[in-house]
Amino acid sequence: MIDLTPDRETLDPIEIASRDEISALQEKRLTWSLNHAYANSTFFRKRFDERGVHPDDFKSLADLAKFPFTVKQHLRDTYPFGMFATKREELVRIHGSSGTTGKPTVVGYTANDISHWSDLIARSIRAAGGRKGNILHNAYGYGLFTGGLGAHYGAERLGCTVVPISGGMTERQVTLIEDFAPDIIMVTPSYMLSILDEYRRRGLDPRQSSLKVGIFGAEPWTNSMREEIEQAFDMHAVDIYGLSEIMGPGVAQECVETKDGLHVWEDHFYPEIIDPVTEEVLPDGEMGELVFTTLTKEGLPMVRYRTRDLTRILPGTARSMRRIEKITGRSDDMIILRGVNVFPTQIEELILKCDGLSAHFQIELVRTGRMDAMVVHAEAAPEHSSSEARAATARELAHHIKSTIGISSKIEVHEPGGVDRSAGKAKRVVDNRPKE
Ligand code: DLL
Repeated sequence: MIDLTPDRETLDPIEIASRDEISALQEKRLTWSLNHAYANSTFFRKRFDERGVHPDDFKSLADLAKFPFTVKQHLRDTYPFGMFATKREELVRIHGSSGTTGKPTVVGYTANDISHWSDLIARSIRAAGGRKGNILHNAYGYGLFTGGLGAHYGAERLGCTVVPISGGMTERQVTLIEDFAPDIIMVTPSYMLSILDEYRRRGLDPRQSSLKVGIFGAEPWTNSMREEIEQAFDMHAVDIYGLSEIMGPGVAQECVETKDGLHVWEDHFYPEIIDPVTEEVLPDGEMGELVFTTLTKEGLPMVRYRTRDLTRILPGTARSMRRIEKITGRSDDMIILRGVNVFPTQIEELILKCDGLSAHFQIELVRTGRMDAMVVHAEAAPEHSSSEARAATARELAHHIKSTIGISSKIEVHEPGGVDRSAGKAKRVVDNRPKE
């Protein structure tokens, strides 16, 4: 793979500033952000008042812990526009995340917010190895989801030629990659696997494609999956993280030269890790729930938003801004089976160890009698799809799961194409247990 490390002179100075400079900027911006939220959002004013804190109580970064958390339910309770800190007329864009309840959670952006977001996506694409003049195939979904338009504006800001294909129509994805010869693809890692299948179905060699970098996110994925995709396409695969409540994609980005976790763009977002049960702030290096406070957002400032994503904060490497380790999973996606915690990413790692399996999978939760049980639906690799081979692979995976995670599971190895696909975020867990 070619070296795509960006020249240091092309970085934003703050990316490589000293920790003291970064902390000073954060303190200044947090002071603004807390005051802005308090003065202009009735929601935040009420929350602060109830907690008995005032923005004047914020004097240094450690004081942030005095302020109340914000959770997704607050956005639902104030649906659609109740949390904003500017007049609705000042918002130039609305996005939303689908969630499970039918109604989306709504987020809004002023023109300045969109501009900052574009800058941060441009910075993220550059960190991933992209450059002005590259062709960028954007297969994140366009619409209420922040992936498509968020990536689009930032790619334009960097000076890329954007192909706004959105998700879906996999055959056409491959046709346009072959015809337009993009350097970069932005897409969920699970959908990249569907694109890979389509390459193989057509008898095309993915290693001969023009792609040099894939910027994958919107769902958890593992280093084993990175290896799988990098090998298949002979390209770099880097991680991009974000969430609509905080902005969208581009809150944190992995650098192509190190691929060692994601640098949080700390000049715009202040990260904390908390113990999800006690809500206590944990020191850097400890695993817990990621919490963000926005530093520059006008339309929807967020104070200590609990993401439910589990990770740890690590020191900076390729940039001075701190990193988060690849996300293990969301606390909502944690499966508890007979007292053992399991994340879909753990299953992903083990599936990718089995030669007989492709990387597609889904976990089904069922109840047999009084016991919850896990069924892993995996898919045979094309050259291992006979029924004997599938049975042997199923035994192999069951053994790996039992010996590394410590639980018994039922494995169903389907024929190639037998596991449900999605054109965006994969649905890794299907809960078919009877509702209580
Ligand atoms: O998924 C924003 C995004 C779009 C990020 C495109 C990256 C690329 P939401 O739909 O609000 O926003 O979902 C946010 O997705 O809290 C995580 O649980 C998960 N997530 C996002 N990026 C990653 C990642 C977009 N790189 C939720 N690794 C977050 C693991 C991720 N999980």
